[in-house]
Amino acid sequence: MKKKYEPAFNKTVPITEPTLPDPEKLIGKYKKIITSGMLTNASTVKKFEENVARYLGVKHAVALNSCTSGLILMMKVLELKGEVILPSFTFHATAHAVVWNGLTPVFVDCDPKNYNIDPKQVEKAITPKTSAILAVHLFGNPANVEALEKIAKKHKLRLIFDAAHAFGSKYRGKHVGGFGDGESFSLSPTKLLTAGEGGIVATNNKALAEKLKIARNYGDSGNYDCEFSGFNARMSELNALIGIESLKILEKNVKRRNKIAELYKFKLSRMAGIEFQQIDPANRSTFKDFSIYIDENKFGMSRDELYNRLLAENIIVKKYFYPPVHKQKAFLQIRTYNDNLKNTVRITDRVVSLPLYSHIDIKTVNKICEVIGRLSLG
Ligand SMILES: Cc1ncc(COP(=O)(O)O)c(C=O)c1O
Repeated sequence: MKKKYEPAFNKTVPITEPTLPDPEKLIGKYKKIITSGMLTNASTVKKFEENVARYLGVKHAVALNSCTSGLILMMKVLELKGEVILPSFTFHATAHAVVWNGLTPVFVDCDPKNYNIDPKQVEKAITPKTSAILAVHLFGNPANVEALEKIAKKHKLRLIFDAAHAFGSKYRGKHVGGFGDGESFSLSPTKLLTAGEGGIVATNNKALAEKLKIARNYGDSGNYDCEFSGFNARMSELNALIGIESLKILEKNVKRRNKIAELYKFKLSRMAGIEFQQIDPANRSTFKDFSIYIDENKFGMSRDELYNRLLAENIIVKKYFYPPVHKQKAFLQIRTYNDNLKNTVRITDRVVSLPLYSHIDIKTVNKICEVIGRLSLG
């Protein structure tokens, strides 16, 4: 009888898991919120916003029900018109936020080394209709902020960051959060800072923060006479409480992820045909995701084959982000500045994200690397 295939792991290794605060610290506080009867629009959300603003070193933080809401509403209150330049190598929510505002997304290519939007391509894509640049700190790796700020200033464009992956990232020693007009973070469970679900916009622009607070309440400042169309994008008190406690363990988690990423790089860089997203040594990534690039000729198998083989070993891996947004059905009709986006297409065809979460143990990481090494030898 043929022997049953024994995968490397009996128990599935997830791609990610939230590292959550001690539930004991939450229970008493939950009780307090519930007995108060104030489940929304109350002091816990306010406290979360204050704590986040202090941590990031920004003047304002506005809590929302998601990062996508933050992006949609930021573009709405900035009254953008026409075209918005953004990367195609991102999670599709970045582009949905543009479309929901009736704006035209103009996708440009990424830098082949750091995978973030390429400032040179951004500048080439500017037309008289361009009103903003929407950059992403991909996988937590800070975008080229300085070059983007220069371009935005020169061409009088708004600059917004999709910072979904980047709570805890640093650009040249400064926390991501204070750059451009505003930055929108995601607090969903796959992120380092989580509120269960949620988002938070950081900004130094007081008028923008005040308008966002109205926008998250349907565009109603409280007198039922709406100034513009918003929607319900409020964060509940219960979510804010998880956010407050999660913020207390964030630094530890960012540092641990950086250690694990170093270990992965140390082990995998000895194998032929594996390359990594480059992080400028002056910056800090959160490593929301740890992605490897597979050069099929040198590695001995394609990304897709490696992906399937790792799944068969009970190692959950993801093709983040494939297909790139400009090739997804919802966006096929939409113009890209230059059709080929050759770096984006090449890289998204070849990258795969490995399991990484703040409490993953070293033994698991070592074993994943051993499995990859074995597969590469054929
Ligand atoms: C780059 C990027 N932007 C936006 C989002 C959307 O975040 P949310 O689910 O909080 O709306 C995500 C979600 O993971 C993301 O990866």
